[in-house]
Amino acid sequence: MSSDLQQQSASQPVVGIIMGSSSDWPVMKLAAEILTEFGVPFEAQVVSAHRMPNDMVDYASQADARGLRGIIAGAGGAAHLPGMVASLTPVPVFGVPIPTRHLQGQDSLYSILQMPKGVPVATFAIGEAGAVNAALHVVATLATTDAALKEKLTAFRERQTAAARAMTLS
Ligand code: RP5
Repeated sequence: MSSDLQQQSASQPVVGIIMGSSSDWPVMKLAAEILTEFGVPFEAQVVSAHRMPNDMVDYASQADARGLRGIIAGAGGAAHLPGMVASLTPVPVFGVPIPTRHLQGQDSLYSILQMPKGVPVATFAIGEAGAVNAALHVVATLATTDAALKEKLTAFRERQTAAARAMTLS
């Protein structure tokens, strides 16, 4: 397991980052980096739907009472974690499909995206873009009731626009 995976902000976490395996961390750590940049307290840990299902049930069923307001869940292959967690909590779940060797993450994408009606998972792009955007979407959601966070998000977008305008082709 990556030594930096078991992360917890100093403050009470409001976002949970969970994933099926430590092998997902190179992708999922990009979500952690965004939340760190915005100063959103989070926790990050492995909660495997297939290998530790009872832990997954405990995590999901306690998430609301522990104060989590969003869960970013990454999984690869037959990626049940985001949907199963969503079925066990009212806390919104943001799913990140992890790239896979044989199907390049399309298996993960469809597993997370194709939820039957009634239990949604907000599903993002496969891989790094998905991890970053899931975290940005959590930030945007929290910013609807947090003016300071909305200012940070606006500033982030402005920096991104400036960087795009400054792009040159060699
Ligand atoms: C899934 O199985 C995990 O989310 C991971 O993407 C995939 C492979 O896990 P490892 O075999 O690398 O631990 O549950």
